[in-house]
Amino acid sequence: MLEEFGKPLAVQEVDLAEPAAGEVLVRLVACGVCHTDLYTASGADPSGYAPTVLGHEGAGVVERVGENVSSLAPGDHVVTLFSPQCGECIHCKSPRTNLCLAIRDMQGKGYLPDGTTRLSRDGEPIRHFMGTSTFAEYTVMPEIALAKVSPEAPLDGAALFACGLSTGLGAAINTAKVEPGSTCVVFGAGMVGLGAVAGCRLQGAERIVCVDMSEGRLELARGQGATETMLGGDDVVERIVEMTDGFGADYTFEATGNVRVMRQAVESARMGWGLCTVAGVAGKGETLEVIPRFLITGRRVAGSSFGGVKGRDGVPALVDRWLAGDIDVDPFISHHITLDEVNRGFELMEAQDGIRSVIRFG
Ligand SMILES: NC(=O)c1ccc[n+]([C@@H]2O[C@H](COP(=O)([O-])OP(=O)(O)OC[C@H]3O[C@@H](n4cnc5c(N)ncnc54)[C@H](O)[C@@H]3O)[C@@H](O)[C@H]2O)c1
Ligand SMILES: [Zn+2]
Ligand SMILES: [Zn+2]
Repeated sequence: MLEEFGKPLAVQEVDLAEPAAGEVLVRLVACGVCHTDLYTASGADPSGYAPTVLGHEGAGVVERVGENVSSLAPGDHVVTLFSPQCGECIHCKSPRTNLCLAIRDMQGKGYLPDGTTRLSRDGEPIRHFMGTSTFAEYTVMPEIALAKVSPEAPLDGAALFACGLSTGLGAAINTAKVEPGSTCVVFGAGMVGLGAVAGCRLQGAERIVCVDMSEGRLELARGQGATETMLGGDDVVERIVEMTDGFGADYTFEATGNVRVMRQAVESARMGWGLCTVAGVAGKGETLEVIPRFLITGRRVAGSSFGGVKGRDGVPALVDRWLAGDIDVDPFISHHITLDEVNRGFELMEAQDGIRSVIRFG
């Protein structure tokens, strides 16, 4: 429970109402601790609110379903989606985007689609977070925001597909659509960047260069398929241009959230057809500087939210690729913690200790 910005989360009992029509009660088994949770907890997010129950990287088991829920039943294993897929809106019907329009406004304000909350304390409503609120033993979510995944998948690993891992994989697979034999550069080797490295490998890239400030993380990148790694810095663009016969890479990916690195990613893309995919979230008010000549000479810049993954279809497919042995998820889970230790999860993240702490419930 986030009571007040800048204060540690408090673990306490709150009331959770039964799922209404189109909603599902989920018993959480695992949940990753992500920067977005900390960003809101700190008060830095201008659209944040408190009190609320944070958490958005959840995986669990369906406990009960409300009226008119047809695609999920008790016992199903699910991954929570802050980016839902209604299947009916103009965006869901287009192959060009995953930004479902169905519940955006209500979700952003902390309400379920009907404009109310299922969470409350002493009769006072408490708003949901990202439509998920998964730092909890149970949550109620819209059916369209739950992806049914294989019951074979361990749920602590499945939780990572709720956010950063799918974002990185999808940036390479869906947004950039990396072609076999290409040269790729990934800036940042956190959850998102490492996912992008793995995505480039799955797409059959020939060279995958990963850039980070941490040797330990570059080592993880090699484990995910990076063929070359380097420490970041002011001269990174020159180094990349030099190692690509003076041209730059076919595909670049930015997964740091730093606008100067975004610019490096644009400038490291090859003239003629280089595509830079930006996945990092910049600070409020920051802008990306691009010299127009880089665009005129054939480079393109794309943004990617949740890796362009249409969650209900795409997350189960990615989880199946994990089960098939194509994606190595274990190295990303650095710490298992309990819900009571959630603030320690934030500390570990701030210290860049490991990639993900995963809360296990019960
Ligand atoms: N687009 C989306 O839907 C989406 C989803 C999840 C996260 N994100 C964003 O993606 C970004 C990455 O998330 P994460 O969880 O992987 O974060 P992270 O902090 O774990 O990883 C960022 C990495 O960038 C590296 N880095 C910092 N400065 C660098 C530099 N100058 N050059 C090279 N590397 C540098 C850090 O060493 C770190 O390893 C964040 O901005 C996050 O908000 C976006
Ligand atoms: Zn996240
Ligand atoms: Zn939709």
